[in-house]
Amino acid sequence: MTLRVAIICGGRSSEHEISCTSAGGVLRAIDRNQYEPVMIGITKSGKWTLIPDDFDFSIRGDVLPVIAEDGVPVAIGPDGFSINGEKIAIDIVFPLLHGPYGEDGTIQGLLEIADIPFVGSGVLASAVAMDKSFAKPIFAAAGIAVAEGFVVREGDWAKEKVKISAEIATLGYPVFVKPARGGSSRGTTKVSSADQLHKAIAEAHSFDPKALVENEVRGREIECAVLEIDGLPRASVVGQIEIDPQFEFYDFQAKYLHSATSITLPAPIPEKIAREIQEQAVKAFTSLGCSGLARVDFFLTPAGEVIITELNTMPGFTATSVFPKMWEASGVSYQEVISHLLKSALRRNNGVLGN
Ligand SMILES: Nc1ncnc2c1ncn2[C@@H]1O[C@H](COP(=O)(O)OP(=O)(O)O)[C@@H](O)[C@H]1O
Ligand SMILES: [Mg+2]
Repeated sequence: MTLRVAIICGGRSSEHEISCTSAGGVLRAIDRNQYEPVMIGITKSGKWTLIPDDFDFSIRGDVLPVIAEDGVPVAIGPDGFSINGEKIAIDIVFPLLHGPYGEDGTIQGLLEIADIPFVGSGVLASAVAMDKSFAKPIFAAAGIAVAEGFVVREGDWAKEKVKISAEIATLGYPVFVKPARGGSSRGTTKVSSADQLHKAIAEAHSFDPKALVENEVRGREIECAVLEIDGLPRASVVGQIEIDPQFEFYDFQAKYLHSATSITLPAPIPEKIAREIQEQAVKAFTSLGCSGLARVDFFLTPAGEVIITELNTMPGFTATSVFPKMWEASGVSYQEVISHLLKSALRRNNGVLGN
C-alpha cells in the first residue's frame, strides 16, 4: 500500500520560487512504489491550492515557477485537508517551505493541530533555528563556538545610538550586521568602520526589528548536512563553499548569481577537523531539538577553530542543492534521502512532546 504524501511548496516568503523548484525535484525523485505525491501550493498571498498536473516546476531561462492565485482551493483545519468540503486523506506532509510561515514553526503547529505527521523539525526547533538571537546562546551552552556579538533592537537603537555604537566598537571592526531572522544573506552587511554602521543597522532593521552585530570571523565556510536515519542524526561528509573572490562575503549575489559559488566535496581539510565538524553539526542538531534534517553552516579559521554560523531546518532541496549533494557524496541518493525523511516523519518524534 502506498502512503499519500502532500508536498507543500511556494508560500509567502521571498523564497517562494526556490521552494517550488525543490518541490519539483522531490516530485521527480520520490519512490512511487511507496509513496503517492499530492502537490499543494501556497500562493504568494497565502492561499492554499491544488497544483495542476501540468504545472512546470523548473526554471526556464529567467522564468521562475510561481503558484497561481486562482487554483482549486485546499482547506486545512483541525480535522485535516479538504477540497470543496470533501476530506482528502493525507498520510504525511512534506513542507518544502523556506523562511517565515514555512521554516519557522508556524506550519508545523498547524500540522500538529491537524494531527498529521510531517517531515522535518517540530514547532520549537523550527522557531528557534529561525531566530539567530535565540539559536546562538543555545549553541554556546552546548559548547559550540559562536561569533562574539549582541542584539541591537530597533527601539533601543533609536534612543541610544551613541552608547550602542561605543559597545559595537569594543567588538573591533570589521563587524557583520544582519537581521536576527533572516536568510539568503538579505540585509547582511560587512561594516569596516564606524561611519558605515548607521546605514547597515537601518538595512538590517528593514528586515527585522532585531539586528545582530557580530565580530568578523575570518575563515573558510564549511557546511554539513544532518539527516535522521532510523531515529539517529547522522552527519554527511563536509563541504567547503567556494565563493568567487569578487564577492566580499557569501552575500545574496554570490549565492544566487549563477556559477558565483560552488561546493567542494569533501572539503579539502584534514580528516580530524572534518570529523570534529561532523560532531559539532550533530551536536547543533540535538541542542536545538531538531528532527529529520538540517544543514549546519560553520566557519573554519586558519587556526583550526570551528565556529557555527547558523542551522537551517529546511535547506534548499532541489536535486542539485547543497543538502542532497552532500548526501550523494556520502553514498545516499536523493531518492533515499527523501525516503529517510518520510520514514522519520512517521516516527513523529518532532511532535509537541518529541525531541
Ligand atoms: N560574523 C561573521 N563573520 C564573517 N562573515 C559573516 C559573519 N556573519 C555572517 N557572515 C557572512 O554572511 C553570510 C550570511 O550570514 P548568515 O548568518 O549565514 O545569514 P543567512 O541566514 O542570511 O544565510 C555568511 O555565509 C557569511 O559569508
Ligand atoms: Mg547562511
